[in-house]
Amino acid sequence: MSALDVRAFTVGPVQENAYIVRAHSQATSAVLVDPGDEAERLQSAIEALGVQIEAILVTHCHFDHIGAVAPLARATGAPVYCPEIERAVLADVMSWVPPGFGPFESYEAEHTVAGGEQLSLAGLDIEVIFTPGHSPGHVTYAVPGALLSGDVLFQGSVGRVDLPGGDWATLERSIGGLLKAYPAETVVYPGHMGVTTLGRERDTNPFLSELRVRVPREPAADSPAA
Ligand SMILES: [Fe+2]
Repeated sequence: MSALDVRAFTVGPVQENAYIVRAHSQATSAVLVDPGDEAERLQSAIEALGVQIEAILVTHCHFDHIGAVAPLARATGAPVYCPEIERAVLADVMSWVPPGFGPFESYEAEHTVAGGEQLSLAGLDIEVIFTPGHSPGHVTYAVPGALLSGDVLFQGSVGRVDLPGGDWATLERSIGGLLKAYPAETVVYPGHMGVTTLGRERDTNPFLSELRVRVPREPAADSPAA
């Protein structure tokens, strides 16, 4: 049973989920995932928890996920990990923000990730998985027992694929890869809406009906041996 401690903060006008993730509830260091907005509120939460932020992890560079990266990188001193092929978006945020949102501050990420990396931060072993389809460089961060999956997979839904660089077949392949690589009980902390599990989405998500056929359900642990 994972002792992972994940605090969720729904921020900004499009209700994005930012997360403070610790290896356990007494840990004094943490990673901050997708600080999309409301920098002061997130900073207050960091101070209230008494944690040192060791890294800021970005799943993808849509404005709702990165709007508070710059002020929080400054406030915490933490390095920022950004998907490699979206680094230029973080470095020039306002060129990509639709009218009516912002202003947001740009940031030059200290590190880029492309998938395949193994990070060791805040006492957490973090695997970076390339999960494009919602955006071209999207990554998912896997920590023990859970996925920080940005806008790949939601409770009962999936990330939209109608924005630049979006593609449904690619997203479906990314989700299929997660379903194959991680057990059903893996907790999914998504970029919007509530927490779910891979198994729940595999079995009930209406967008995954074709994947259900291709990624068969494992037998339940208590079912008779096949
Ligand atoms: Fe997004």
